Amino acid sequence: MSTFQLGDLTINRMGYGAMQLAGAHAFGQPKNREEALAVLREAVESGVNHIDTSDFYGPHITNQLIREALHPYRDGLTIVTKVGAVRGADASWLPAQSPEELEAAVHDNLRNLGLDVLDVVNMRLMFDVMGPAEGDIEAHITALAGLQQRGLIRHIGLSNATARQVQQARGIADIVCVQNQYNLVYRQDDAFIDQLAGQGIAYVPFFPLGGFSPLQSSILAEVAAELDATPMQTALAWLLQRAPNILLIPGTSSRVHLRQNLAAGKLVLPEQAVRRLNNVITSV
Ligand SMILES: NC(=O)c1ccc[n+]([C@@H]2O[C@H](COP(=O)([O-])OP(=O)(O)OC[C@H]3O[C@@H](n4cnc5c(N)ncnc54)[C@H](OP(=O)(O)O)[C@@H]3O)[C@@H](O)[C@H]2O)c1
Repeated sequence: MSTFQLGDLTINRMGYGAMQLAGAHAFGQPKNREEALAVLREAVESGVNHIDTSDFYGPHITNQLIREALHPYRDGLTIVTKVGAVRGADASWLPAQSPEELEAAVHDNLRNLGLDVLDVVNMRLMFDVMGPAEGDIEAHITALAGLQQRGLIRHIGLSNATARQVQQARGIADIVCVQNQYNLVYRQDDAFIDQLAGQGIAYVPFFPLGGFSPLQSSILAEVAAELDATPMQTALAWLLQRAPNILLIPGTSSRVHLRQNLAAGKLVLPEQAVRRLNNVITSV
C-alpha cells in the first residue's frame, strides 16, 4: 500500500470514512451496532491507519463507536476529524464557525474519541453547505492555530474549500490536507488537485463512491467487468491512479463492502481503462 505524508504522519492511501456508521443521513444510532463496531475493528486489523470522522456524525455517536471499538488506539492510527457544524433536531447541518464554537467542537471530539490531542482537524467551511464558496477564513484558521499552539491539535486541514482559501489559510498555519467532494463523475477540483500535489498537500475526496447517490455509469460497469472487479472497486482504483496526493476514505457500514474497498488498493487499471474512465464525466 502506498503512503502519503500528512505533516509528520505517514498515511496509507486507502483509509476509511466513518460517516456511514451512524443512522440514515449520518444521524442517530446505527442500524446494526455490532456490525459497525466490527467494521471499525476489521478496518484497522486490515492495515487501515487513517479514519475520517466528525463529532457531528450522529451527532457524537460515530466518535463514540470509534472509541468503543478501537480505544486504546494502536500506534500509527491517525483519526482525522472536522469542526464547523452542528446538527439540528431534524438532522440538518447548521454552521457553527465562531472561535468559541470551534473550540467547543474540538473539546467534543477529544472527549468522545478519548484523546488528549487530535491528529488532524479539518475546518469544514459552510459559506455554502453544498460546495466550496469564497469567503474570508482568517478568523477560523486563527482560532484553530491558537488551539494548535495550546497542544490540542497536531495538524490543520480544510474541507469544502477553494484554492484561494487554502492560500489564505497557509498564510496563518500549515495546511496538510483538503477534503472536498470529488469522484469519477464529479470532477470540479481537477486543476485544484494537481495544484495541491505540487504543494505537498493531500487531497481527500469525500463521496468517492458517490455518497448518498452511489455512482452509476455504463462505462464504469463495462470497464469493471473486463477487469473482473466491481464498479465501486474500479472507481476507487481510478482515484488512486488519478494523483499521488489523493488519500481515500470510502465509507461503508458493511464488512463485505469494506473488504471489497480495501482490495481495490491492489487493483491496477491499464492505461486504456483509465482513458475510458476519464471520459465517464462527458457521458453522464
Ligand atoms: N467533509 C465533508 O463535508 C464530508 C461530507 C461527506 C462525507 N465525508 C467523509 O467522507 C467519507 C466518505 O463519504 P461517504 O461514506 O458519505 O460516501 P462514499 O464513500 O462515496 O459512499 C458510501 C456509500 O457507498 C456504499 N458502499 C461503500 N462501499 C461499497 C461497495 N464496495 N459496494 C457497494 N456499495 C458500497 C455505502 O453503503 P454500505 O454502507 O451499504 O456499504 C454507502 O451508501 C465519509 O465517511 C466521511 O467521513 C466528508
